[in-house]
Amino acid sequence: MNDTAFPDTPRVDAREKVRGAARYAADDARPDMIHAALAIATIGRGRLLALDTRAARAVPGVRLVLTHADFGDVKAPGFIMGGGYGFQSMQPMLSDGIAYRGQPIALVAADSLEAAMEAAAKVQATYAPEPFSVTLDADGVEIINQADTPLKNFIPEVIAGEAETAFAQAAIKVDASFSSPPQHQNPIELIATVAEWRGGTLIVHEGTQNAEAVRHGLARQLGLSADQVHVVSHFVGGGFGQKNSLQMQTVLAAVAARRLERPVKLVVPRAQIFHDASFRPASRHRVRLGADRSGRMVAAIHDVDAQTSRHDLFPGEYVATSSRLYGIENFRGHERLVRTDVQTPGYMRAPFEHAACFAFESCVDELSYELGQDPVALRLANDTATDPVSHRPLSSRHVAECLERGAALFGWNRRSMAPGSMRADDGSLVGWGVAIGAYPTMTVPSIARLRVTENGGVFLGIGGHEMGQGIRTTLAAAVARKLGVSPDQVTAEIGDTSIAPQHLTAGSWGTASAVPAANDAADAMLRALAELAPEGPPGRTPAQILKAVGRASLEVQVRHKAPGQPDEIFGRLTSGLPSIAGPVYPDFVTFSYIAHFVEVTVERSTRRIRVPRVVSVADCGRVVSPRTAASQVRGGVVWGIGATLREASEVDPRFGGFLNADLAEYVVPVNADIGSIDVAFIDKPDPLVNNAGVKGLGEVAMVGVGAAIANAVHHATGRRLRDLPIRIEHLL
Ligand code: MOS
Repeated sequence: MNDTAFPDTPRVDAREKVRGAARYAADDARPDMIHAALAIATIGRGRLLALDTRAARAVPGVRLVLTHADFGDVKAPGFIMGGGYGFQSMQPMLSDGIAYRGQPIALVAADSLEAAMEAAAKVQATYAPEPFSVTLDADGVEIINQADTPLKNFIPEVIAGEAETAFAQAAIKVDASFSSPPQHQNPIELIATVAEWRGGTLIVHEGTQNAEAVRHGLARQLGLSADQVHVVSHFVGGGFGQKNSLQMQTVLAAVAARRLERPVKLVVPRAQIFHDASFRPASRHRVRLGADRSGRMVAAIHDVDAQTSRHDLFPGEYVATSSRLYGIENFRGHERLVRTDVQTPGYMRAPFEHAACFAFESCVDELSYELGQDPVALRLANDTATDPVSHRPLSSRHVAECLERGAALFGWNRRSMAPGSMRADDGSLVGWGVAIGAYPTMTVPSIARLRVTENGGVFLGIGGHEMGQGIRTTLAAAVARKLGVSPDQVTAEIGDTSIAPQHLTAGSWGTASAVPAANDAADAMLRALAELAPEGPPGRTPAQILKAVGRASLEVQVRHKAPGQPDEIFGRLTSGLPSIAGPVYPDFVTFSYIAHFVEVTVERSTRRIRVPRVVSVADCGRVVSPRTAASQVRGGVVWGIGATLREASEVDPRFGGFLNADLAEYVVPVNADIGSIDVAFIDKPDPLVNNAGVKGLGEVAMVGVGAAIANAVHHATGRRLRDLPIRIEHLL
């Protein structure tokens, strides 16, 4: 392992992006393109009695209207967490059933987008409505112990020591309940598919985090072989987990394109994305935390109820992380799923960890006030080098350094402990809060091809999706460093199923999986070059060596997998199935960590909460691309502020669905809401998890922001607010 820090590398695709040359799926504007739009159900659950499409068909320019009567041969894709490829198992428009409000009931294809939208609005449905439930506490929900479902095989309950007994005997106790609302990713790029048939081959352009699942899922749905489907996703305009699998519109566009023998573009408008794609499920938490009088945490019990759909069990993994924040010997984590009438929820950036750590780290702050101990000191005193759940060693954990460096950068020693004791110049209450976050370090296998040419080109074909996080830059930086060339000479060819298997890029494993494979490929290339030209002056570039021996190009291929993964994992990889290892590896356990320090001000008369200042220090192992890494953390902190103070998908139990399905009503932070965000990294390579020492960063960046803000609000006002989002009205 090369033990020096990586230099700052500008984004390799920055020029393309600022010039508008980066092509996203919806940018495709060929003259022969047909535009599609969807009509959606306006009841919470039930059946279609009739669909009248005459008015829609009469709109000038309309070429095709498809309903459930037209998809006889199409199969459901299967749920991605249940052996399939779809964000949910249920494919709309295969029957007359309505599982949730907003579900598509008809597709209209027309010469223009305007005609398609006008016609979609004219589809007339008659329904037989049925009762439905859309909130965790509604009549008619079904509550299931996760441990009693097939999910127990991969997400066990967390049981360490004797939590009930140890909690009962603890000298100091905190017992509190929390809630987190449903929330929706709102990436700037809408969900969009361009489907096109060439001969018997289906070509799909779609912004996705999982081109391989789109390919294999479509093959299953349409009865094709995977060789007949080619998926391209060069740029994704934000994924955040929403684009992590086959969406419901893709097969609809493919069928329309086959009927019309023309390329069909289907862009799902923002209002429909709130019902047609996954979202962060509502969850509620009860945390019981016990400590001795010295401040050693001796027991914790974390009970979680999380929303799922009627048709799928979306596995909760909340307690897998809350149990790993500290070295608590006695821990019990228990998760229940609540079936409601919605589309299947899914993974939204830091899907479980954000809500779980909001609850848990709020309790740790309460404990520090019960004990009269500084919240940073309390956290430092409960550090651990061993995984408290599996009792295996942690391969790296630099939480203490994150806290110490963050405290120094923030000026934490100037904080006075008593709530309400600090003031800003304008008289606003000032609160300073701290919290830590953790996120599992997972790894997926990768097959990489590396080719160098005599004119200096370096081409890396590998699995990966560029969704703004900067994976192209990271890969270029890693390969360039190994081969002694400049990063802008390296082209990372990703997001294309014809180049290399495109495993789902999510769970913060993108860099931690692709960079080690790229390192292996570069090492293999160096060996191949040395064999080609054993003699010669040192320090030559690959191009110079190829020229010296008269070769036009040289290519190597490598396979990389996680510690402990069997070779059969490559079969899953090439079938588009999740092939995820970690955070518990055979000999060790690995997580990424972060410490957030937050200043809030609360204006005295309006109680308006502002966040002028955040300091975040991350332990993500080796930082391969300092610039994109810092930008990931800033983005995560901004989202943490949004998730804590703004965002909620509002539900009206009378109607089902989500009410505030647009960016006017689904409130996210704007620039004026964001103050300074200082980011620092420990930047110490993890010694065991992979050859690059990389752990993962994207999601841990926002974990703990919620609790740090809530703890700061308590410090400013003396009020503990335990339901997200925290808004002005809760402080009045
Ligand atoms: Mo992420 S929420 O695993 O794309």
